Amino acid sequence: MSAPARPVTAVLVGASGRMGRALLAAGAARPEVRWVGAIASPTSGALGSEVAPGLRISADLAAVLPAQVVIDFSHPSATRTTLRDCRAARSPLLLGTTGQGASLEADFAAAAREIPLLIAPNTSLGVTVLLELAALAAGALPAHHAAIREVHHRGKRDAPSGTALALAAAVRQGHPAASIPIQSEREGEVIGEHRLSLEGEGEILAFTHRALDRGLFARGALAAALWLASRPPGRYAMRDMLFGKTKT
Ligand SMILES: NC(=O)c1ccc[n+]([C@@H]2O[C@H](COP(=O)([O-])OP(=O)(O)OC[C@H]3O[C@@H](n4cnc5c(N)ncnc54)[C@H](OP(=O)(O)O)[C@@H]3O)[C@@H](O)[C@H]2O)c1
Repeated sequence: MSAPARPVTAVLVGASGRMGRALLAAGAARPEVRWVGAIASPTSGALGSEVAPGLRISADLAAVLPAQVVIDFSHPSATRTTLRDCRAARSPLLLGTTGQGASLEADFAAAAREIPLLIAPNTSLGVTVLLELAALAAGALPAHHAAIREVHHRGKRDAPSGTALALAAAVRQGHPAASIPIQSEREGEVIGEHRLSLEGEGEILAFTHRALDRGLFARGALAAALWLASRPPGRYAMRDMLFGKTKT
């Protein structure tokens, strides 16, 4: 992919958080990205602080739009507002925030008719490939018993993780299991670990992804955001960047 002639203007929602800081650090190494807004909650202790040269945290997303892409790694309670403001400004949105449940499905569908919307419960390129492998393996082994285990740091709010749910959905694509057990553990500073096992008679096939560094998600998110900025309206997933879009 060749670099665009001019940097892509980007807004970061959740700029004061763990992922926000990782994105700002990753963005500093990518001249193709120019931050034009950094957003936190209206009660954030970080409001007004300078997080990059000339970039101060504010709470009003609409005021810093339009941008060529918005990247949201914040809190599920912010998602409705982010969707509304991105739609109003016709700005593409990469939604990395997890934990919304199924309640926003109609909002996602409506937004995707108007803007490019990439919903990414996990922006790791390795996990993106894992989801494809999971669908392939589970479809070929329908009699095997599928199970998922995920481990994250104690600060993670949602359980099961968005990635574990995406993994279960990938398995179900070709597998008859009505429900797939997901074991969630919260301990220490674990950034994120997911394991899918397919247990059959006399064998266990297992896939493990272990995140070693939060920057991994940030680098994947920036790559996807740059890709999304030039897509037409529609609903996208990380896989579409790597494997091409096969459905809307
Ligand atoms: N897709 C992926 O690959 C991936 C990877 C890791 C994490 N995540 C998800 O990303 C999200 C953030 O994770 P994190 O670890 O960075 O969390 P975090 O450290 O708790 O940071 C949350 C950020 O969201 C902001 N925020 C909270 N409520 C908001 C609101 N109503 N409007 C605007 N901003 C708001 C916070 O601002 P203040 O607290 O300063 O107000 C803070 O900047 C979570 O949903 C997590 O599950 C996704």
